[in-house]
Amino acid sequence: MTRTPQHTPIACVENQNQASRLVPVAPFDIAVFGATGDLAMRKLLPALFHRWRDGQIQPGCKIIGVARARLDRAGFIKSVKDHYRAFFPDEKLADAEWDAFAALLHYCQLDVVSADADWSCLEDLLAGDEDKIRVFYLALPPGIYGAVTANIGRHGLNTKNARLVLEKPIGHDLASARAINDAVGQVFPERAIFRIDHYLGKETVQNLLILRFTNSIFEPLWNANVVDHVQITVAESVGAGNRASYYDTSGALRDMVQNHILQLLCLVAMEPPNDFGADTIRDEKIKVLRALRPVSPGNAASLSVRGQYGPGAIDGKAVPGYVEELGHPSDTETYTALKVFIDNWRWSGVPFYVRTGKRMARRRSEIVIQFKRVAHALTPPEAGHLHPARLVIRLQPDEGVKLLLMTKDPGPGGMRLRYVPLNLSYADTFCAGYPDAYERVLMGVVRNDLGLFMRRDEVEAAWAWIDGILQAWRTDEMACQLYPAGTDGPIAGAMLIDRDGREWFDGL
Ligand code: BG6
Repeated sequence: MTRTPQHTPIACVENQNQASRLVPVAPFDIAVFGATGDLAMRKLLPALFHRWRDGQIQPGCKIIGVARARLDRAGFIKSVKDHYRAFFPDEKLADAEWDAFAALLHYCQLDVVSADADWSCLEDLLAGDEDKIRVFYLALPPGIYGAVTANIGRHGLNTKNARLVLEKPIGHDLASARAINDAVGQVFPERAIFRIDHYLGKETVQNLLILRFTNSIFEPLWNANVVDHVQITVAESVGAGNRASYYDTSGALRDMVQNHILQLLCLVAMEPPNDFGADTIRDEKIKVLRALRPVSPGNAASLSVRGQYGPGAIDGKAVPGYVEELGHPSDTETYTALKVFIDNWRWSGVPFYVRTGKRMARRRSEIVIQFKRVAHALTPPEAGHLHPARLVIRLQPDEGVKLLLMTKDPGPGGMRLRYVPLNLSYADTFCAGYPDAYERVLMGVVRNDLGLFMRRDEVEAAWAWIDGILQAWRTDEMACQLYPAGTDGPIAGAMLIDRDGREWFDGL
């Protein structure tokens, strides 16, 4: 089992009642389009290897790399292995184990966009059992999703158990997302389209539903009466790097907020679903998306911030700024912070402050539910500052849930208070480790677990709101504020929340 927490558990206790069970998935074939690209080599093929190594993928499955690169099967297998070694230097790779996995790998050199390319390699590999689950994973730029899917249809490969997996971003605005959804919908029914947001595959993200809806203590507190505000931070220390040319057409708002951050916000804010069915949950999420208060010209500067990293240092090492990496001037934001309101009964007046950025001081994804201060302080001022109770849900790294509370410091010396956490650390609690998000979503496709994926209306509702922000930024000519790489973002990001008499919570 791939262990996500990297350090050795110090006191974890195996769950005696329910040992984790690896249930093999049904036999399937998967064609990874864009198989020589970064996503396939860094995430998808290793994820399939890990699931196979743990016994979840059965012999008889075919993993077919499809790309334009002039490679034969042996060359593709070698490339997959070389990349695996580079990306997972700490994983032991036994020859026999690798050779057995390699037996599942195939390669077709094919220009999947071209209407008159010869698809016989793929057709032959997929031929045989028409009922077998067949997955087409498009690890490709979204601009060609429509053309490629039309070609899948033209070659009659969309059999009744065929599934189409689309990587994010689905388009770059509402109109392009609709065009893609219309085009792929001509070939695959909505129930066979799996739109990836890999954040939904993270254990800690799935746990949001369990935390909220299987512990009765939270629901009475989860509303505007008790919650002061919510913070969502997704900070990365990496820069745009070799993805800079894609990233420059996207920026932090499209790359992170439209999908990952809005999904987190939905899971925090949604009403309890009637059950954990895929559509029941997605029905609740979309209500949140539709209740987001629009950001419009005139209020964009008070509700949002755009930033871009300049040269700086990460872990004491000098790193270039974004435009130096890119090689030309750019006003693309590598950081954004937003003050979001959800106009519904539960959250009326409660701000959700969200921020994300590249080249920030440290990698950290975290949700903070900050509760209101007590109505009347009973302790004398010399006892110490009273902090509000906070529920801190750490998605990565050091996954865990902390409830921060005021406590009396024990011992003599009068009334002294301390702010301390009740701490559920994943690494210390769960011995078994768990698969990476891509492993989970890939198995989710085969299992037909649509709840792990975004439905068409969700993607479009998210774009509709994001389009409003982009339009407001353009109209108000909001430029990026520079921040040195290796810091917490521009000063304007701190001011966004500071103006309201609040502050970003950056740990104890
Ligand atoms: C991707 C974004 O969707 O998520 C990247 O395109 C980002 O820019 C990545 O780095 C972050 O994912 P994770 O799982 O490392 O938090």
